[in-house]
Amino acid sequence: MITNIAIDGPAGAGKSTIAKTASKELGFIYVDTGALYRTVGLNALRLGKDTKSADEVVPTLEGLNVSLRFVDGEQRVFLGEEDVSTAIRQNEVSMAASNVSAIPKVREFLFDLQRDIAKKNNCIMDGRDIGTVVLPDAQIKIYLTASAEARADRRFKELTEKGQQVEYDVILKEIKERDYQDMNREIAPLKQADDAVLVDTTELTLPQSIEYMLKVIKERL
Ligand code: DC
Repeated sequence: MITNIAIDGPAGAGKSTIAKTASKELGFIYVDTGALYRTVGLNALRLGKDTKSADEVVPTLEGLNVSLRFVDGEQRVFLGEEDVSTAIRQNEVSMAASNVSAIPKVREFLFDLQRDIAKKNNCIMDGRDIGTVVLPDAQIKIYLTASAEARADRRFKELTEKGQQVEYDVILKEIKERDYQDMNREIAPLKQADDAVLVDTTELTLPQSIEYMLKVIKERL
């Protein structure tokens, strides 16, 4: 039997780091669906499109080939034959991804790809609408969150440790903007599924969050 674990939550709650570690421990693949929206956003940006405009973005989907490949259990995302796994992490791509993700045709375009992977693999899939829309029958659903301030704090530390000059207030503002946009769009907004377990990591360190998440999963497997 195939087991699917859905993890949803706002940007910066630690979904990817925690899910990656948990999936290794369980021998599952880890699927980061945000990478798909980022790839559509990156492509639209490269073509000079207004990522908020459905009229401009929808035509870019024609013939677009977005795919995920798994190398040693690590997800890589491809735009055609180009590995864009690093390019999609640029800061401006985050907002572009959030913008294009509010366009129904974009969500439709990426839907089957996500479903097919889950059908064939034991996986932990993370995103915004996995437990609510993409995998409503997932055996385990987790809604992972933390306060906007805690998330901004972590992001600020991460970037300054990398030597980047960033302002805390700007990061916090961007996080709040993206939360608002992801939670208030008409289609598949970010929200906790009725049957999801709430995990709030505001007061937890990363190792504590991982430990807690693994406990929640193992109790339910
Ligand atoms: O997880 P992330 O921050 O890389 O995702 C980037 C954007 O993509 C996010 O702001 C909203 C969108 N997204 C979505 O709408 N549905 C998903 N399942 C995953 C991401």
